[in-house]
Amino acid sequence: MILVSRIVFAMACLGVASAQLKVADDKVVKYPSYVPVKRGAFIVELESGNTSPSTAAYAASFNSINNVRVSSQFNSLFRGLAVSTGNNISAAQLASVQGVKRVWPVRYHTLPYRMSATNITYPYLHTQTGVSRALQELQLNGTGVKVGIVDTGVDYTHPELGNCWKTAGCPWQYGADFIGDKFDWSAPNPIVSPNPTPMDCDGHGTHVSGILSGQGPTVYGVAPGATYGMYRVFSCPFNGSVASTDDIILRGIEAAYQDGHDIISLSLGGGSWPEDPISAACSQLVKKGVVVVAANGNEGSNGLYTAGTPAVGHGVIAVGSIDNWNITGAVAEFTTPQSNLTVLLSSPGSDKYPFIFETDVPVVAPTDKNGTALGCTGYDASLVGKVAVIQRGVCSFTQKATAAQSAGAIGVIIYNNVPGIVNPSIGVSVTIPVVAIAQEGAQTLVADISKGPSTVKAPSKLTGTFPAFTGGKMSPFSSFGPSPELAIEPLLSAPGGNIWSTYPQKLGSYASLSGTSMATPYVSGTVALLKQARPQLGVKEIRSLLANSAKPLQDAATGQMIHPYWSGAGLVNVYDAIKSRAMISPPELSINETTWGPVPGFDQLQSLGSVRWAQRNVTIANTDSSKGMDVWLDSSVADSLSMYLANGEISDVPRIWPASQASVSSDTLPLVAVADSHLHVAAGQSKNITVLVVAPSGLKESEKWFYGGYLNFTLKWDQELVTSSLIVPYAGYNGDFRTADVLSTPDSGLPALTDSNQVAIADVSKLVVSANNTALILYRLDVPSRIVSATLVDTSNNTIGYLPYGYYEYNPRNLPYGDNPLSGATISNVVFTDKEAAHPIKVTAGKYHVHLAALRPLGDANNSKDYQTWDSDQFSIA
Ligand SMILES: *[C@@H]1O[C@H](CO)[C@@H](O)[C@H](O)[C@H]1NC(C)=O
Ligand SMILES: *[C@@H]1O[C@H](CO)[C@@H](O)[C@H](O)[C@H]1NC(C)=O
Ligand SMILES: *[C@@H]1O[C@H](CO)[C@@H](O)[C@H](O)[C@H]1NC(C)=O
Ligand SMILES: *[C@@H]1O[C@H](CO)[C@@H](O)[C@H](O)[C@H]1NC(C)=O
Ligand SMILES: *[C@@H]1O[C@H](CO)[C@@H](O)[C@H](O)[C@H]1NC(C)=O
Ligand SMILES: *[C@@H]1O[C@H](CO)[C@@H](O)[C@H](O)[C@H]1NC(C)=O
Ligand SMILES: *[C@@H]1O[C@H](CO)[C@@H](O)[C@H](O)[C@H]1NC(C)=O
Ligand SMILES: *[C@@H]1O[C@H](CO)[C@@H](O)[C@H](O)[C@H]1NC(C)=O
Ligand SMILES: *[C@@H]1O[C@H](CO)[C@@H](O)[C@H](O)[C@H]1NC(C)=O
Ligand SMILES: *[C@@H]1O[C@H](CO)[C@@H](O)[C@H](O)[C@H]1NC(C)=O
Repeated sequence: MILVSRIVFAMACLGVASAQLKVADDKVVKYPSYVPVKRGAFIVELESGNTSPSTAAYAASFNSINNVRVSSQFNSLFRGLAVSTGNNISAAQLASVQGVKRVWPVRYHTLPYRMSATNITYPYLHTQTGVSRALQELQLNGTGVKVGIVDTGVDYTHPELGNCWKTAGCPWQYGADFIGDKFDWSAPNPIVSPNPTPMDCDGHGTHVSGILSGQGPTVYGVAPGATYGMYRVFSCPFNGSVASTDDIILRGIEAAYQDGHDIISLSLGGGSWPEDPISAACSQLVKKGVVVVAANGNEGSNGLYTAGTPAVGHGVIAVGSIDNWNITGAVAEFTTPQSNLTVLLSSPGSDKYPFIFETDVPVVAPTDKNGTALGCTGYDASLVGKVAVIQRGVCSFTQKATAAQSAGAIGVIIYNNVPGIVNPSIGVSVTIPVVAIAQEGAQTLVADISKGPSTVKAPSKLTGTFPAFTGGKMSPFSSFGPSPELAIEPLLSAPGGNIWSTYPQKLGSYASLSGTSMATPYVSGTVALLKQARPQLGVKEIRSLLANSAKPLQDAATGQMIHPYWSGAGLVNVYDAIKSRAMISPPELSINETTWGPVPGFDQLQSLGSVRWAQRNVTIANTDSSKGMDVWLDSSVADSLSMYLANGEISDVPRIWPASQASVSSDTLPLVAVADSHLHVAAGQSKNITVLVVAPSGLKESEKWFYGGYLNFTLKWDQELVTSSLIVPYAGYNGDFRTADVLSTPDSGLPALTDSNQVAIADVSKLVVSANNTALILYRLDVPSRIVSATLVDTSNNTIGYLPYGYYEYNPRNLPYGDNPLSGATISNVVFTDKEAAHPIKVTAGKYHVHLAALRPLGDANNSKDYQTWDSDQFSIA
């Protein structure tokens, strides 16, 4: 009671009638249960239309409520407050204050990135991205451009990062610490204790800084002459993870904005929806003319729809990762009867037992008791005094190493069973050195060793540089698009796998890390070079030029084009972007609505009959003011992607439909047509082209394929002989995305009622639910859904309440985690009258059914027609 009167008081201060006091459950965002949120911490988003009362007035009013404290006010990019509350105040009560738009629980964020398996040489990659030419031939280095980095801080005393802080001529002119060293997110109340400067104790931010600003001689950044700001929002590692929260990240982003940076580089992310506060702030930054570059995410192994926030923010440049071309690292030299081989080793996994053999020791490729090279089952033969070469797979690295150690081995080399090289993680019981080598070349090595007595040595100082087996390919960890609104994500890709850059001096000065976190500063650096060369360019033009001049990637095995949802427009090429004398916009065509029927106005397509098609306009500008330009439009098809295997099972790695004209029927490939495939654009003029994209009618709609490809514009200026080309990626959903089913198709047996062990209930009408016999409603989201609710409904069609775990917002699609890629809610004799599950009621005995509703993509939450629904059969509650 006291609490309510205090809130009335607060509202009275704002001149709000107390009659409107209520618990505004609808305005409180309810994230899925596994999203880590900070207890009693919220971002209160305020309506943006009418800006009076001011944010400060709201802050004062909230502060006057007992047990409520406003920790930050956000005015420029996001209108709202960061608020912490005592246990007795609910989010719904905060939301009841007039003028509050939404109340967002504050999420914790951690930084996903990893140590690379080996050290990598840095400069070579600049030749692949046009950075070398921009630096050397065009003498650019980013001078005059301001770049804000929001990260873990920077070791600004590093000799290759200037060894200075905010002094004259120093690259670091801006920045601050917003979090300090003590923020342990597993603690009940993590401590925020900012330091005077954003010194880095983790390494991530220093690594990112080197990619941008490295001065050499070891690390040559992309834009060493730019002016930098570091906004430290992540703390030191605790139990291996560095953490932050939504409100601290927002403060860092706002501070960067206030310092007037041209570019803000965000190697961070979580969630995946464009309206979350961090994405919304980034979309605002873009509107205000700031180039925002963000990591697309490191969840590629979970397949489609794994692009994160703020990468999915509107107008943000989302960046995917490509593996570096060269690897430098420790090597082992093998002498066999057949050959002398030098092989790259993974970095020593263990400091205690490094893989160092200064002189030759015997090496064997032993067969285990099971007759295989896997080494899981132990050995009959003695391995005393020998190094054993063992195949990866079936059992853990530790099990293999333990078995070899028991047989007397003095070292273990595990060769990969998939392309590339890994860092083996080994349990403490293993006391012999263990390293890994790549799959490539391993068969030859094993065959040669098996020919007769062989030796190996790995002296401590011996290193070699090799072309990387995965060089130039998409990094397997790089997240896939599309966004939940079907925008193409990422926009483009850059080197991010195995990048050698600066590291805090206390942690060794240099390190090789992998992540879209590394690709992001790379692209931010290219934007700085482009801005320096062509300062008049705005955000839209920069996005277009970078995407237009990127190089689409091909699958190394098949030679087919990689889908834009993985690589975007392809590998960044800043030299071509700077030199480009034409620009095509928009930078990508995300086809989310299609028309069904014959294609009008395109004579060449009349024979197709009824197909799905979409029409889009692209503008092509000839920015050369002195010469006319001929344009020929062509296109190439990329592999199509599906989340489903042919048997209907959900798949983590997307299933591929090959783009090859030769191997598949042409109606399984998308088709691009233009009314006129050749046109002339006068000097300094632009023309619009209407492009028609026909979806692949031969692919099954039930398999929810995503098709895509690249428009390819060949350009030739008058009196010139050489042509150049620019591309625009296109991609869409094979169906109409707005009406796409969110819940998996009924023939998959879902949604379903099951017992508490997830066994389907054969006859639901006989089910009797009680406190001791709960059941489950299980469903699978094929497509991300903004809102999913599961409610209990009685025989007169009255909704009794939400099931436990029955209401979530901003749901990702179901990921193929483990063997149970499903979502669910509990059916018991208790339901909740509110979405926050704060107000339980006991259900009276009787007959009921479950009503499941999931908002379709691009749907309106207030329109019941935009939900896909499902009703269970009736059952009893005792
Ligand atoms: C960047 O280039 C400018 C000349 O345009 C030069 O004065 C400056 O020293 C360069 N900065 C770095 C860090 O190389
Ligand atoms: C990687 O580089 C660091 C620093 O130069 C060096 O200490 C380490 O031994 C190198 N590791 C390998 C595997 O070459
Ligand atoms: C391996 O190297 C040694 C010393 O360089 C050389 O004598 C020998 O012929 C080489 N063996 C093979 C198979 O190439
Ligand atoms: C034993 O060998 C078979 C093939 O010969 C293999 O499929 C199986 O995984 C092996 N088991 C272990 C434990 O290594
Ligand atoms: C680096 O990789 C490129 C491309 O594969 C290759 O041409 C070059 O020789 C490599 N450099 C070294 C030192 O191995
Ligand atoms: C998809 O279509 C809707 C309606 O035409 C539009 O509002 C939305 O922005 C589109 N999304 C993308 C990614 O183009
Ligand atoms: C494309 O442009 C044409 C005129 O050039 C216009 O009639 C048409 O409505 C435009 N289509 C779209 C989808 O904007
Ligand atoms: C675009 O066309 C050029 C020839 O003008 C060709 O070299 C290039 O491979 C094409 N790119 C794509 C993505 O189709
Ligand atoms: C091309 O289309 C855009 C909008 O789609 C329009 O603003 C512009 O005027 C058109 N340009 C020409 C040359 O028709
Ligand atoms: C149901 O569970 C409650 C407490 O968990 C217990 O007291 C009661 O005896 C149980 N009833 C039945 C029928 O098992």
